[in-house]
This record gives sequence, structure tokens and C-alpha cells, in this order.
Amino acid sequence: MSNTRTRLVMGNWKMHGNLGQNAKLLASLRAAPRSASGTLMAVCVPFPYLAQAAEALKGSAISWGAQDVSAQAQGAFTGEVSGAMLVDFSCRWALVGHSERRSLHGETDQLVADKAKAALACGITPVVCVGESLAERDAGQAVAVITRQLAPVLALGAEAVKKMVVAYEPVWAIGTGRTASPEQAQEVHAAIRAALVAAGAGNIQILYGGSVKASNAASLFAMPDIDGALVGGASLVAEDFIAIAA
Ligand code: PGA
Repeated sequence: MSNTRTRLVMGNWKMHGNLGQNAKLLASLRAAPRSASGTLMAVCVPFPYLAQAAEALKGSAISWGAQDVSAQAQGAFTGEVSGAMLVDFSCRWALVGHSERRSLHGETDQLVADKAKAALACGITPVVCVGESLAERDAGQAVAVITRQLAPVLALGAEAVKKMVVAYEPVWAIGTGRTASPEQAQEVHAAIRAALVAAGAGNIQILYGGSVKASNAASLFAMPDIDGALVGGASLVAEDFIAIAA
């Protein structure tokens, strides 16, 4: 069966940048030639810079989104940002359940699923992040952890899951310079794919994240179930991010 999924390379700026730096980065991304492979590029920027990204990337081939979204539609939720607000800035994507949100902000598997549902309700594609810690991997629990994290998301049903993207980001590979080998990543991607097939949504994109760089992107992307990357550090340097997509 040939893989017809469009490859997607998405940047996660995390809490980096300022108006001046962003302007240069966005201009460089906009000026980059479209990748010959047809790979799509996107950036997930901090909330205050969504307007800047929208203005700078409007009409380009690069789409943009947020790094989180509230599970709530509106109301007395100080500090939260709703899906409808993201739509005001033409966001196409919202990360949900990034490991930093799970570990530093106590987000549960169920809350992550609720956020994915809230994004979909506004027509935004949730990028559901999952991944095991080093201790969990060493205990042979990687696939069990990912299965547990995905369960409430898959419970939203096939029609919902078909509109999502999943990102596998082993926590031990995030920002550490220690990338999962293509084989290690593929093993988990295949398990995610099997769970998605069983849920009736087998053909959605599964991105790999964790210290992706230009030097390791091609070998990761050669794996049958790796459909692109979620890129942190390297997405802050235009030439590095463009090289990953190329
Ligand atoms: P990294 O981050 O590429 O800097 O490892 C990836 C992520 O956390 O999305």
C-alpha cells in the first residue's frame, strides 16, 4: 500500500522570539522556495505573535497555529485562549498535550482529548502530542504509555480522529540533542498507526518530534509511518527549518 499522506514539517517556537526576531524568521520562511517534495510547512507561535505570523505568512504556502488551546469555549477562565480566538487569527493548527504542558502544567490525557475536541469544534486541526519518558522507555512501557495517552482521544470517534494529526515526541529526545533512531521511532509510529487503523482513522499524519535537525530528518522521513516532524529548537533558525523540509 503506497503512502499518500502529505509530509508536514511543523515548527514549535515554544516561549521564544520577539517582534524583531520573528519578523526576520517569518520573512525568511516566506521567501524560501517550496520544497520539491511537496512537503507542507507550518509554525506554531506564542499567542501574542499570532497576528504577526498571520500578517507575515498570509498568501504564502506556510500555515500557522498555536501551541495550546482551551478545552472551554468561553467564560471565566483567566489566561486561557479559546479555539474561536485562534480562528480570529486564521490558525489552522493547535498543538495539544505537548509533553511540557503535560509535565509542567499537569495536563491529563482526558484534558488533552477535551482540547482536541474543542479545536475541532472550531475547525482547527489539533496536533495531539504523545510520548514516553526515559524511565518509561527503560521499563519497556513506551507503547503502553502512548496507548494510554491516546485512549481518550480515540474515544472521540473515527470522524473526529480523521481530522487530527498525531505527533510522537519521546520526552527523552526533546531538546536533548538525543534523537530517537529511525527504527526506534518507526516502532512506536507503527504502534500508533495500528491503534489509528483500529479506530477507523488509519491514514492521518503521524509526526516525529525530538531533536529533529537537517542531518537526521531524511532518515526519519524514510520510515513508512513517519509523515513529517514537529521541530522545536531547529525551527527558530530559518535555514535549519527550511533544510528539514527540503
Ligand atoms: P526539539 O523540540 O526539536 O527542540 O527537541 C521538539 C518539541 O518539543 O516539539
